[in-house]
Amino acid sequence: MELTRDEEAILRGEKGPRQQECMRILATLGEMYGARKLLPVYSVQLSGISYKTMGSAGTEFLEEMAEGGAKFAVRTTINPAGYDVGGPGLVRTHEDFRAKQDRLVKALMTLGATPTFTCTPYTTEFAPPPGAHLAWAESSAVIYANSVIGAFSNREGAPSALASAVLGKTPDYGLHRPEGRRAQVVVDVDLSKGPMRYTVVGAYLGKILGQRIPYFRGFRPLPDVDAMKELGSSLSAWGAVPMMHVEGVTPEAGKQDLEGLEHLSVDAQIVGEFQKCLGCDESPNLVAIGCPHCTKGELIQIAQAVKQKGRRLKPGTELWVCSNRKVIQENAAAIQVLRQAGAKVIQDTCMVVAPLSEQFPVAAVNSAKASFYMNKKAFSGQKIVFDTTENLVEKYL
Ligand code: F3S
Repeated sequence: MELTRDEEAILRGEKGPRQQECMRILATLGEMYGARKLLPVYSVQLSGISYKTMGSAGTEFLEEMAEGGAKFAVRTTINPAGYDVGGPGLVRTHEDFRAKQDRLVKALMTLGATPTFTCTPYTTEFAPPPGAHLAWAESSAVIYANSVIGAFSNREGAPSALASAVLGKTPDYGLHRPEGRRAQVVVDVDLSKGPMRYTVVGAYLGKILGQRIPYFRGFRPLPDVDAMKELGSSLSAWGAVPMMHVEGVTPEAGKQDLEGLEHLSVDAQIVGEFQKCLGCDESPNLVAIGCPHCTKGELIQIAQAVKQKGRRLKPGTELWVCSNRKVIQENAAAIQVLRQAGAKVIQDTCMVVAPLSEQFPVAAVNSAKASFYMNKKAFSGQKIVFDTTENLVEKYL
C-alpha cells in the first residue's frame, strides 16, 4: 500500500506512539487486503462500548490512549452503553458495573467521541451523505449505510475503527471499491404463499449467505427504510453480510450484473418454519423493542399498538422501547403515549448490551438480531419469546 509522506512519518513514530500504533493497524489491514492507499473518512462509528462487551482490558486501553493525549480526528459516534448513561436512570445495574461503564465513557469523551450512544447513527444529525466513505463498526449500521444510503463502509472491528477515528482514514479495499460491492447471490422472494417478516428473512438468509452480498428481487411492496433496517440487521447478525442490493431500493442495485450468479429462493413457508427456532413458549418478564434502536416510524407503530390495547401494562412485566436521544426528543406525542401506559422509553443503551439476564431470565423481542444475542449462552443466556410488535403488546401487556 502506498503511504503519503505524512502517513510514513506517522508510521515511523514521528507523531507519537498512539498515532504510530493506529497507523500500524491500518497499514497492516491495508496490506492484508490489497488496499492501494488510505482514504479520508467522513465519520467513524465505534461499537462494543458497553462495559459488558469491552471489559477491563478494553477500558484500560482506551484510558491509556486518552491519557496519552490521543484525539479523534473525525466525527466519531458511539454505540449504546451498558446502561442509560444520560437518561433518567430507568435501567437497573450494579453500582460496580456503572462505575466501570462511567470510566469507559469518560475515556471516550476525552478522546473526542460524540455522545450519540446509538446503533442507528443514520437517524441522527450525523447521518452521512450518499457516497461518503466511513469506518463504521456496528454491523447493522454498516449494512444500512451501504445498502440504503449509498455510503461506503467495511465492517470494522473495534481496533480498526478506533485507529480510523484517531487518523481520520481507512484502507481503500472491500466495500470502498466498486468490485467489493457487487452482488454475489440472487435471492428471489416468493410472496405467493403469504407475506414474510423482514427480520426473519434476514436471519434465515444470514446463516446461508455468510459474508456474501445478496441481490433481492420480488419484494412487493418494496421495503421502506424501517424494513431495510430490520432485514439488514438480521443478515449482519446471523451472517456477516456487509451489504445487500434490493431491487428498486439500493442505489447501486440497477448496476448489478446478475449473469452466472447462484440463485436462492425464499417463501413464507420456509421462513415461517425457521421462525420457530427464534423463540420459546415461556412467559416473559420483559418485552423489549428497538433492536436496532427504534426509528420515528417504529415508535409511532408501537405507540399505536399500545394505545389500541387501551390500558396500562400488566404488573410484573416491563416494556422497554429503546431508541436514541434525537428520535426520542423529536417524537414527544408517541413517547407520551408509551410512558402513560407504563412503558420505559430507554435511551443510550439496549436490551442486548445492558446486563439484564439476572433480572429478566425470559425476554420477549420482535427482532431476530436481539434474539440471536440474548439467547447466546456466552452473551446473555436468556430465554427468548419471539413475535411481532403487535402480538407482543396484545399477549403480554
Ligand atoms: Fe443496537 Fe443493541 Fe441491537 S446496539 S443493533 S439495539 S443489539
